[in-house]
Amino acid sequence: MPTRDLLGALFVPSRVAAVIVLAAGEGTRMRSATPKVLHTLGGRTMLGHVLAAAEALQPEHLLVVVGHARERVAAELTGQARAVVQQTQDGTGHAVRVALQGLDHLEGTIVVVPGDAPLLTGATLQKLVDTHNAESAATTLLTARVQDPTGYGRVTRDATGVTGVVEHKDATEEQRRIDEVATSVYAFAAGPLREALGQLRTDNAQGEQYLTDVVGLHKSAGLTVSAEVAEDPDETRGVNDRVQLAELARILRDRIVQQHQRNGVAVLDPQTTWIDSGVTIEPDATIAQNSQLHGATTVARDAVIGPDTTLTDCTVSQGANVLKSVATGALIGADATVGPYSFLRPGTVLGAKSKIGAFVEAKNAQVGDASKVPHLSYVGDVTIGERSNIGAGTIVVNYDGQHKHRTTVGSDVRVGSNNSLIAPVAIGDNAYTAAGSAITEDVPNGALGLAREKQRNIEGWVARKRPAKGEQPA
Ligand code: UD1
Ligand code: CA
Repeated sequence: MPTRDLLGALFVPSRVAAVIVLAAGEGTRMRSATPKVLHTLGGRTMLGHVLAAAEALQPEHLLVVVGHARERVAAELTGQARAVVQQTQDGTGHAVRVALQGLDHLEGTIVVVPGDAPLLTGATLQKLVDTHNAESAATTLLTARVQDPTGYGRVTRDATGVTGVVEHKDATEEQRRIDEVATSVYAFAAGPLREALGQLRTDNAQGEQYLTDVVGLHKSAGLTVSAEVAEDPDETRGVNDRVQLAELARILRDRIVQQHQRNGVAVLDPQTTWIDSGVTIEPDATIAQNSQLHGATTVARDAVIGPDTTLTDCTVSQGANVLKSVATGALIGADATVGPYSFLRPGTVLGAKSKIGAFVEAKNAQVGDASKVPHLSYVGDVTIGERSNIGAGTIVVNYDGQHKHRTTVGSDVRVGSNNSLIAPVAIGDNAYTAAGSAITEDVPNGALGLAREKQRNIEGWVARKRPAKGEQPA
């Protein structure tokens, strides 16, 4: 029905034709072999953060202009993002021209963002696009008011609004006092953008085609130029060196921690808690001091992480407790406890109410429900059943110098202290092993495995062999 169609058309926001991410620059001030946009904060590359913000707009095209270290940057692209090579870095305007080559018929809104502004959010970009659409503008630029505008392009205004952007190096003393700066984030109408890009000149201090000049060109052509001042100027901050990268990482840390706190997570010391963007935490979990949650880690409700714990790509179930420990690629069952001072490596799966105590290393170890490895052990390539106890100081000897072998321990087993379980070996249900045993053969269900030298005492040995000082041997 036409009415419905009309209503639909009214309520579907006009689609973003393309987002262009500028990422061809070298980033020399990072002094790094890694291209600038591939440096990370919050567990993601700068470019990864920018792409996530861009994807929130659901653009038809997501183009990343690459130049310096193009293969490495292009290799990091995810989703629909496509690399466009800018052979020589002739300026931001030139970069956008290159991106639009072959897209001559593109209509609608084109958004441009710099690849080194990782705190930019999809919400801010959406707001910019909404303003742009509402005002039917040719250019809408995101600006920011900053304490120290040195180095930035300054936004010039008159009674009618924004008139242009003048780069720091081209600005007069008076213009340099302007504290409203260009952020390199824009929404453009495709047609007028293409037209203005064709008119860019290079008679400026840097001999480059400035994208900022599009603003003045549109204004002089009588088109609508609108501007939105960023609510949170931090969002628009760029990274030029490692000092700025660390500052932005700190801002991002606070942002992520506060998001979790608002969702009901107890973060006891936000300043020493670092949580990656991809981590999920349920309400009523507690993250204690000096803890880091990385990668795809998930933490369920009522779990307590830390203090002093680092988890990477771990799944922590409800009510589990991980104290002063390091874990990577581990699944920690409900109400399980880990630590202090233990190290869980990939493939470790801990059952419900199981326990990994102090100074234990586990690798590719399945520990069944309510089983315990309480002290000073290495458990590698082993499957342990339920309700079993592994004595203090036990080593699962999984490596014969050439190959790794697997060990199985049944349910309700008591492995004595200071055992070596020399793989491959199997210990049956309800079995015991004697303290100090080197177990090389399977122990049947319910048996005692005893594998150590029988003790003998040599009477009078000390007096004969170790006489007190000054005494003569007998
Ligand atoms: C640019 C703006 C300036 C603004 C500032 C905000 C211009 C001319 N100036 O200055 O008004 O205040 O950003 O941070 O646009 N790039 C390319 N190809 C090129 C040149 C640059 O892809 O040929 C990329 C860079 O990798 C970077 C972005 O564009 O991601 C911005 O370039 P940069 O040289 O950092 O511009 P600024 O001098 O900071
Ligand atoms: Ca810059």
